[in-house]
Amino acid sequence: MLKIAVLVSGGGTNLQAIIDAIREKRLTNTEIVLVLSNKADAKALQRAKDNGIDQVCIRKKDYVNQSDYDHAMIDAIQNAGADLVVLAGFLVVLSSEFVTAFSGRIINIHPSLIPSFCGDGFYGLKVHEAALKRGVKVTGATVHFVDDGTDTGPIIMQKAVDVLDGDTPEILQRRVMEEAEWKLLPEVIQRIADGKVSLGKS
Ligand code: GRF
Repeated sequence: MLKIAVLVSGGGTNLQAIIDAIREKRLTNTEIVLVLSNKADAKALQRAKDNGIDQVCIRKKDYVNQSDYDHAMIDAIQNAGADLVVLAGFLVVLSSEFVTAFSGRIINIHPSLIPSFCGDGFYGLKVHEAALKRGVKVTGATVHFVDDGTDTGPIIMQKAVDVLDGDTPEILQRRVMEEAEWKLLPEVIQRIADGKVSLGKS
């Protein structure tokens, strides 16, 4: 059984996609052992509560320095017994200490086809604004391993989504979620649970 910790900051629709996939047995041999948020009012925490999943809020401002904050997160994840850390809209840049603690065992979902529209400053709607501004006709989502950089780790899977005439950033964001993110993330986790993707390798 693959035990996962899901790290969130906001709406948690990707978390919901994982919960639904497990409930509907499209994702097997996987258990969410912890949902960790850096924001107390994240809707994702309510989703965890509603589904009887352990959840915790760990905020940077409650710690005197980065190292104490890192250790609080590392301890919570290790105490929950997680094998894999899933970043699902977690808007905190992870320190190298955190990445080292779970080396090769952290995955992230990014709402573009990396290496387009990724890296520092590309998060949330900004990604889709940039894609529309550049005029690309295809965008999508990427799940990748996390290393010390921002969106630089080995790519595991990608899924393409058409950009359509009349798209706004909000409309495109929603289509990328529906057609790519919510399918891709459970699919990648299933592959990891099945041992088809070696942790730390693409
Ligand atoms: C998603 O677009 C994800 O790719 C990005 O942040 C957004 C989070 O959405 N990293 P949600 O909280 O899962 O609804």
